[in-house]
Amino acid sequence: MEKSKYVKYNVLTGDRPTGKLHLGHYAGSLSERLRLQEIDECILYVMIADVQALTDYSDRPEYVVSSIREVMSDYLSVGLDPKKIVFFIQSQVTELAELTVYFLNLVTVSRLERNPTVKAEIQQKGFSESIPAGFLCYPVSQAADITAFQAEYVPVGADQAPLIEQTNEIVRTFNRLYKTNCLKEAKPIFGTVSRLMGIDGKSKASKSLKNAVFLSDSAEEIRRKVFAMYTDPNHLHISNKGAIEGNVVFQYLDAFHQDKEEVEELKAKYRHGGLGDTTVKEILNTTLQDFLTPIRERRIEIFSDLSLIESVLYNGTQEARRVANVTIRNVRSAIGIDGYFNQYKITWDLNILYVKYYCGLVFLEIFLNFINHLINDDSGVATELLLVIAIYYYVRFCGYSYNVGT
Ligand code: TRP
Repeated sequence: MEKSKYVKYNVLTGDRPTGKLHLGHYAGSLSERLRLQEIDECILYVMIADVQALTDYSDRPEYVVSSIREVMSDYLSVGLDPKKIVFFIQSQVTELAELTVYFLNLVTVSRLERNPTVKAEIQQKGFSESIPAGFLCYPVSQAADITAFQAEYVPVGADQAPLIEQTNEIVRTFNRLYKTNCLKEAKPIFGTVSRLMGIDGKSKASKSLKNAVFLSDSAEEIRRKVFAMYTDPNHLHISNKGAIEGNVVFQYLDAFHQDKEEVEELKAKYRHGGLGDTTVKEILNTTLQDFLTPIRERRIEIFSDLSLIESVLYNGTQEARRVANVTIRNVRSAIGIDGYFNQYKITWDLNILYVKYYCGLVFLEIFLNFINHLINDDSGVATELLLVIAIYYYVRFCGYSYNVGT
């Protein structure tokens, strides 16, 4: 990401709200976001993808909704900073849904069926023949997310790379077809550990496979999971030579132990023979307890502060709407579907403003008559003074509500 110092660029990423986040998320994406939020030129958007979550949780919307609070608590407790990141909720930026609809015409069903990420997920979720159309099309909705924010970079796990490719195909088709360059292509950014294994060592850490260590796990749960981790099954005695490849304990040490040299020494000793699984697991347990205890404690506080979470998401969503709205206007104009009601557009906004002013004046007059009557002021000085104050606040109010309303 070599960029000139003063050019800002947008980065968008997100998570589906389908439960709490775990160490796989931390290693794969949260750590990368912590790095990105410190770069001044980077405008980082983090989206809670509730619409995408509904593509396979359509029957459990309440679970998706309650997960938003869980995911936000995870974000804030690891140190993602709302002053540096725009957090928003996908469903509340309706421009994204509109953009998805336009994009759907630019991809074929067979291209979607060939998308490796979608293919793997269809198998994993056991959809076989009854794939929800929304699920098959979620890469298109993801392309809308990325392009709506003119994101140049998208930090994702390696498994999501085909989605960025598909996004760029859509961008090229759109720009060519509608003779524009209003949409930007994006590049993926991969975290250092893009695929953290689950404790069973069979597949990547995942909530649905119940093989993940959660950021919110208690000290006992962490210990239990560490001691259940898959190691080298042939390493039966301390003196045996052990394998590091596929050994979950070492992968977690690589990802979370502060002292890389010490980890290398442990690996050498383990390979050579003479280092027991229990000893390595004790070390990993200490590492993870040290790492997760402060996160868990902060998380408890943040989770109970609903107004904090709501305000972060509300402010971020307002900002996200503003940005996505600029793109959707450009997109409509590129397609040529923006000029239907030009002659009414301006007058309608003004009409609303006139009505507001008029109602306000009537109200003022009644109010002043009432005051006059109350204080029986013949000279009218007090009323004039009141009038000035009232007009001042009234104009401020009208200006304010005009800004909010448009
Ligand atoms: N697909 C991502 C996930 O499963 C969530 C997501 C939705 C996303 N839209 C995105 C990620 C846009 C990056 C960019 O977690």
